Amino acid sequence: MRNLFFSMIALTAIAIFTISGCNKGGGDEILIGEYGSLTGPNATFGISSTNGLKLAVEELNNAGGLLNKKVKLITYDDQGKPSEAQTVVQRLIKNDNVVAVIGEVASSNSKAGAPICQQNKIPMITPASTNPEVTAIGDYIFRVCFIDPFQATVVSKFILNTLKLKKVALLKDVKNAYSTGLADFFEKEFKNMGGEIVEVQSFSAGDKDFKAQLTSIKAKNPEAIFIPAYYTDVNLISIQAREIGLTVPLIGSDGWESEKLTEGKAKDALEGCYFSTHVSTENPDPKIQEFIKKYKAKYNAMPDAMAFLAYDAGLILFEAMKKAGTTDPEKVKNELAKIKDFSGVTGKISINEQRNAIKPAVILEIKGGQFKFKETVQP
Ligand code: PHE
Repeated sequence: MRNLFFSMIALTAIAIFTISGCNKGGGDEILIGEYGSLTGPNATFGISSTNGLKLAVEELNNAGGLLNKKVKLITYDDQGKPSEAQTVVQRLIKNDNVVAVIGEVASSNSKAGAPICQQNKIPMITPASTNPEVTAIGDYIFRVCFIDPFQATVVSKFILNTLKLKKVALLKDVKNAYSTGLADFFEKEFKNMGGEIVEVQSFSAGDKDFKAQLTSIKAKNPEAIFIPAYYTDVNLISIQAREIGLTVPLIGSDGWESEKLTEGKAKDALEGCYFSTHVSTENPDPKIQEFIKKYKAKYNAMPDAMAFLAYDAGLILFEAMKKAGTTDPEKVKNELAKIKDFSGVTGKISINEQRNAIKPAVILEIKGGQFKFKETVQP
């Protein structure tokens, strides 16, 4: 009797141990976490990236999965707020036991989530954060896009050599690490190349009235205004710039990329303006065109840069897990660091010493509210 009692306890203990052991890391599923702004002023960033990533996961699972398991994606909305980004990344790692994290798009949010991934030794791949400090957080943090010192060079060259303009004003969002970083890199690079910065003005994301800054800018007679900021603010800025009689081209960066950029009166206000970004949907490259087809079929929408990049972030993560033969975070991190000439939808991806990808940029022109290919700039 007593023996039976003890062996029953032992069996129960083994059962509990096995069940909890199985749940860690997902059992017959590989759990991957994602955080992004599915709501809030940068919602198209999160929606596009989750759509791109879901496509990568779905294709992988349809083709049999990974390491004999299916991949399950757990996505949380951080509303585009750094504090919320921290909360959801913590939840992904501590409650959901994900083995890797993909996100964020906005650099300020990636900078909030990355330290948590680093501390817990969980690999994180940001699809689209371009601020250099993001991957500098630690050896578990990677990205599949170029960084802002390069983007600053791209924009400087374009303004000086293609548009042949020299006097530029700068308008930046002081609440946004991406904006302030890119503005600084641009200021240095543009001056180095012989350009002149005639005025620097700032605002805070979410502001509604930009007339004071735009009036100060107008007084300095710039030939163009560089605005490294996100689409919701740029939409309003462009309308108000035209209202006060500023007619010069507004020049932007990848944060402009959203179908919402040219909504309403901004469609006319931004006509003939330019911004730098990661991909052009007009690129005839079969990989790009095939991705557009698949994305359209699934979502009934055109993919933007975030969708392409998030898809690629998923692909290199799967590749690293395949190479590692395990989802063990440390081994996956080591394989991510070794990715070379991986053929993604956004081109060849090679991860360098700083865990960044070296890739070309494109300049798009806004025409009739659409983004038209203007030129490619090689690294
Ligand atoms: N590069 C931006 C950032 O770091 C995010 C972004 C990427 C936005 C691509 C739009 C398109 O904050």
